[in-house]
Amino acid sequence: MIENKLNQPMNTEDIINMGKENVMNTYGRLPMALVKGLGTHIWDSDGKEYLDFVAGLAVTSLGHAHPDIVAVIREQAGEILHTSNLYWIPSQVKLAKMLTANSFADKVFFCNSGAEANESAIKLARKYAKEHHGDHKFHIVSLKNSFHGRTLATLTATGQTKYHQGYAPLPEGFSYITMDDQTELEGIINVDTAAVIIEPVQGEGGVYPVSKEFLQRARELCDQYGALLIFDEVQCGLGRTGKLFAYEWSGVTPDIVTLAKALGNGVPIGAMLATDKAAASFQPGDHASTFGGNPLATAVGCKVIEIMTGDGFLANVNTKGDYFQNKLQSLADKYNLQTKVRGLGLMLGLPVGEKAPAIVSECCANGLLINCVGGKTLRFLPPLTVSIEEIDQAMVILEQAFEKMI
Ligand SMILES: Cc1ncc(COP(=O)(O)O)c(C=O)c1O
Repeated sequence: MIENKLNQPMNTEDIINMGKENVMNTYGRLPMALVKGLGTHIWDSDGKEYLDFVAGLAVTSLGHAHPDIVAVIREQAGEILHTSNLYWIPSQVKLAKMLTANSFADKVFFCNSGAEANESAIKLARKYAKEHHGDHKFHIVSLKNSFHGRTLATLTATGQTKYHQGYAPLPEGFSYITMDDQTELEGIINVDTAAVIIEPVQGEGGVYPVSKEFLQRARELCDQYGALLIFDEVQCGLGRTGKLFAYEWSGVTPDIVTLAKALGNGVPIGAMLATDKAAASFQPGDHASTFGGNPLATAVGCKVIEIMTGDGFLANVNTKGDYFQNKLQSLADKYNLQTKVRGLGLMLGLPVGEKAPAIVSECCANGLLINCVGGKTLRFLPPLTVSIEEIDQAMVILEQAFEKMI
C-alpha cells in the first residue's frame, strides 16, 4: 500500500494530507509545496510561479539552482560525500582558510546549522572562561527579542519567553537586556560574565540593526571583564547586509562569529569562527559533529565564498539594497504608514501593523513570496542575486496588496 502511494506522482492535496499524517506538527505551514527553483523564481506543485523574496529564510542567497553550485554538488557527489573528521577533509580546510582570510578569525569549527554553531560558541565561551578565570564565570548575556536557535542552550539564549515555554528546567546562567540600552549593558556585565551574544541585525525579532555605539560598548565591557563577544551572523552574515560580515559595518571586532544559512546555499552547514586565543580552549575530544564540515557541504561553501567575494558582488548587493529600501519607503509614505523601513543591504523589514499576515497571503496569491516577523513587520530576504527588474516586479505585487489591504 505505502509503496504504491510513494511511487505515484503526488498532487498538492496528497502532499499536504500525507504530510499531516506523517510529519510532526512543529510548523505552521502555508498550504502549498515548492518543487522547483531558478534564480529568484520558484514554482509550486501546481506549476504556479512566484518571485522568491524569502530565499528559504536567507539561505539561498545565490538563488535557486545556481549553475556553479549545481556543478560543485554534482562533481563532489561523484567523488566523495562523507569521510568523518577522523581524517583531514581538503574542502573543509580550504573553506576554513577562505573564512579566516576574509575575517578577524584564526580558526573555524564546522557543524550543520545555526543552532549548532551558537551551541558551539556558548560551549567554547564557557570553557574559555573556566580555563582563564575560574568556575564562577559562566554567565551568558543576550538581547531581548533575539533569536539564537532551538537547542536547549540556544533557545535559552534566545531572549523571547514564548520559545522557553514547556522546556523547563532550562540551562542556568542566561540573562537578557534591552537592545541599545547601554545602562542595562553596563549593569549586567561583570566578573561572572563568560560571553555576550548579539545578532548585529536581529532577524526573527523583526529586522532591527543594533547601534554601533552599543556594539562598541559591549566590546569595551567584554575586554574589561575578560568575557568573549559573540556575534550571531547566522541570518545577517555572508553578504546579506552588503558586507561579507555584518560586524564590518560597526568596526567592532568580535571574538567569535557564528554562520550557517547562506554558507551552503541550501546544503546544510554551520560554522563557528574564533580568534586563536578563544579557539585554543577546544582541544581534541572537547566538541564534535559527525557531519560537520563534510566534503559536500564545505565544497559548496567554498564556491559560495568565492562568488560572494568576487568582483562587484557585495557592491551590487548594496546598490540593490538601497534601491529596494527606497522603493519600500516610498510605498510606505504613499500609504501614509508613518513608518520607517529597517535593515541593511537586502535584509529589510517594513512595519505595517496587524495587516502584515494578510498582506503576506495576498502577495503569495499574486506570485510573490515574502514573510512576516512578529506578526507586524513584513520581512524581505530576496536572493542577493536578485535583479532590479525583479525588485520592480515585486513592488508592483506588493503595491497591489497594499491597495487592497491598507
Ligand atoms: C540569528 C539566528 N541564529 C540562529 C538561528 C538558528 O539557525 P538554525 O535554524 O539553522 O538552527 C537562526 C534561524 O533562523 C537565526 O536567524
